Amino acid sequence: MAAPRIHIESTSFDPWKIQAVTHALSDHPLLQIGALVELGKRQQERKLVRTHTADATAGTSFADAPLLHPNHKGTAATLADIEKARAWMSLLNVQADPVYRQLIDDVLDEVGPIVSRHDPGMCYRAGWIFVTSPNAVTPFHMDHEHNFILQIRGHKRLYTWDPFDRVVVSERAQELFHDRHSRELVTWSEAWRTRARVFDLEPGLGGYMPSTTPHMVENGDGPSVTISFTYYTDSTRQRELLYRGNAKLRRLGLEPRPVGASPGRDRVKHAVLTGYASARNMVRRALGRGVRENGQPYAPA
Ligand SMILES: [Fe+2]
Repeated sequence: MAAPRIHIESTSFDPWKIQAVTHALSDHPLLQIGALVELGKRQQERKLVRTHTADATAGTSFADAPLLHPNHKGTAATLADIEKARAWMSLLNVQADPVYRQLIDDVLDEVGPIVSRHDPGMCYRAGWIFVTSPNAVTPFHMDHEHNFILQIRGHKRLYTWDPFDRVVVSERAQELFHDRHSRELVTWSEAWRTRARVFDLEPGLGGYMPSTTPHMVENGDGPSVTISFTYYTDSTRQRELLYRGNAKLRRLGLEPRPVGASPGRDRVKHAVLTGYASARNMVRRALGRGVRENGQPYAPA
């Protein structure tokens, strides 16, 4: 039997702990630059490309980086000449592409049974491919999904912070992020560096980052290709709902208990919020309005 494409420890895997992984995807034909130029053209048509120049720094707003430091080269030109392009480029939601969706399924179907033993309900699968010029930086930020981030080509330094480190990202910042998808309060400080878990990534190495793990990336002195396989689970969706509930309570002038401080209270809150959400969805359906369907296999692009 072939070696698994991502290797994680089946008994000790902890879905809420940052951990190192190894992988066997560096030579995959779909992840070589020629194939990525072709994918880039298709993603450009789908408007699923995010890019900025290598002038962005750790403290640049992640949301605004493409506006603050626009990369005026086209997608295919940037990818084909990434060594000299002075650019940071991400091909977003590559599950929108049937060829790459298959790659995502191949990889996540393999680790899925191990993940699900510890963290059931894998859904909203997605893939993100980062192609970056020498010394480009990914600004400090966090994302909603659990993330297997794998280095395919070149070297980069990945800084990660525990998703429960409330010095680096406050409870209020977590609430705002889940409630409004705003990273406004997720802000960089040089002081964070000493609290980081650092991965020196090279081909064959990667990391697992649980939902809302703050991270920042410094590319090495050569071009780099990295792929992330991401998904949600029952526990990421529960946590998101609890944070949204706390944001609502705060808007009412209350001071909610931090998520995780009292598991019993979280269970009650979650039951109330789930009931509220299904009642609201019933009303929206009755009025012919759209409802976000939960548990879809792939993230909407
Ligand atoms: Fe990210």
